[in-house]
Amino acid sequence: MTQKAGWGIIGMGVMGTSLSRNFARNGIQLALYNQYVKGEEEGIAALRCSQYPELHSALAFEDITSFVKALERPRKILVMVPAGKAIQSVLDQLGVLLSPGDIIIDGGNSFFEATQQREEEFVKAGISFLGMGVSGGEEGALKGPALMIGGQQTAFEMVASDLALVAAKNQKGQACLGHFGKGGAGHYVKMVHNGIEYAEMQLLAEVYECLLTESTPSWELFQSWQQTESKSYLLGITADIVSYQSDNGLFIEAILDKTHHKGTGSWSSISAISQGSPASLMQAALNARFTASQKALRVELAAALPKKAEKASEISHENLKKAYDLARWINHHQGFQLLEFAQKTYSWSFPLAEAAKSWTAGCIIQSELMQELTKLLKKENNLLRTPAFIKVYQENSSALSEVIQWAAQYQIPIPVFSAAWNYLLAIKQANSSGHFIQAQRDYFGGHGLEWKEDENDSSKHGPWHGKVNRD
Ligand code: 6PG
Repeated sequence: MTQKAGWGIIGMGVMGTSLSRNFARNGIQLALYNQYVKGEEEGIAALRCSQYPELHSALAFEDITSFVKALERPRKILVMVPAGKAIQSVLDQLGVLLSPGDIIIDGGNSFFEATQQREEEFVKAGISFLGMGVSGGEEGALKGPALMIGGQQTAFEMVASDLALVAAKNQKGQACLGHFGKGGAGHYVKMVHNGIEYAEMQLLAEVYECLLTESTPSWELFQSWQQTESKSYLLGITADIVSYQSDNGLFIEAILDKTHHKGTGSWSSISAISQGSPASLMQAALNARFTASQKALRVELAAALPKKAEKASEISHENLKKAYDLARWINHHQGFQLLEFAQKTYSWSFPLAEAAKSWTAGCIIQSELMQELTKLLKKENNLLRTPAFIKVYQENSSALSEVIQWAAQYQIPIPVFSAAWNYLLAIKQANSSGHFIQAQRDYFGGHGLEWKEDENDSSKHGPWHGKVNRD
């Protein structure tokens, strides 16, 4: 072997191939490896090198030892294989082949706690391990994805300039990549990205469902919103999706109304629950996916509990847009708040504006709103405290209320819009019904009560069942 490669990439699936093409386009000499599985995966890396002109000069391997030997030292290896067993198997093999100083990057959607553990184990052997969330799907990986990185600062610095070349560039020309701290920080930020993504997707599905009630649905609405400050990647693809017609109407009507998920959306919901961070929109979106999957039960209950035959009145498009805009603010607020909770839990300390900046291009939740939030988060972590949010609230809250009432009247499920409205009502309520829950817990479980006059004393009980009285 004469010339060694600057980077090695493992896994020639859709994302690994697209990222390899991106690296090569940016002048990085590559060694590519894909496992050999007889009859299933044979000569894949070599095939990719012949398929794509950018990869003609890359070195192709299906023997991992030769692949590792073909890399310049310290070796830089990006692993693009599915989370779980597949990544673990690759890491086990690399563990015995690499030397101190080498750097492994897991670019899959691994669970952040697994990344944390893996980093600790590799670091003991002197090998650096970075967990990197990659967003943007196949197109993003090819043209420039958003990259969210966690692990040792020194290791990050050794790969940062190359990763900046392949990352997406935002409107200001900044690379959408961020280093968020040790261990699983990068995968955590990507996980929250996906939680926000779930709610953003579901909000658009709910707008679609509202428009379906019209005798001739105004599908052009999505495209017209895309010309406004509501512009986003997801709104853009929605406008495109509803432009596809088939012989029987919209193309998407031919798709089965069930939904799947790979895990990151539920991990962010679980993480929010475990830390006590309200994340009702991403959770409502996740539940909407679960409910959508219960097709047989839905069909049965649609017959047993039919909807009113009443034809829905036309929904105000102006209200719908205002409701959509306000709900998105609440969704983003909950996502950033979850990152703030996690910083305390895991001792990370990145500015929230850095997470927002890494989401301004290349990723699925890139939007005009994200660009605005990047500026706002430099000054204030809680978006609900910003004058910009207060203005959106003042201008849009009655529209959200009207959309909720309209949907309730005509039995249209809009769980994420409803979650936004209920969160808003609760979070701006100085006096909640929390004391009532305290009373119930103390009544049946003797859990103790905090008194208004002494918040720190929870040793007292209510008068029920002759338990010790506050006096
Ligand atoms: C991205 C996406 C991506 C995600 C898949 C599937 O940022 O590019 O979030 O990473 O994993 O789109 O996600 P679900 O199967 O969970 O919907």
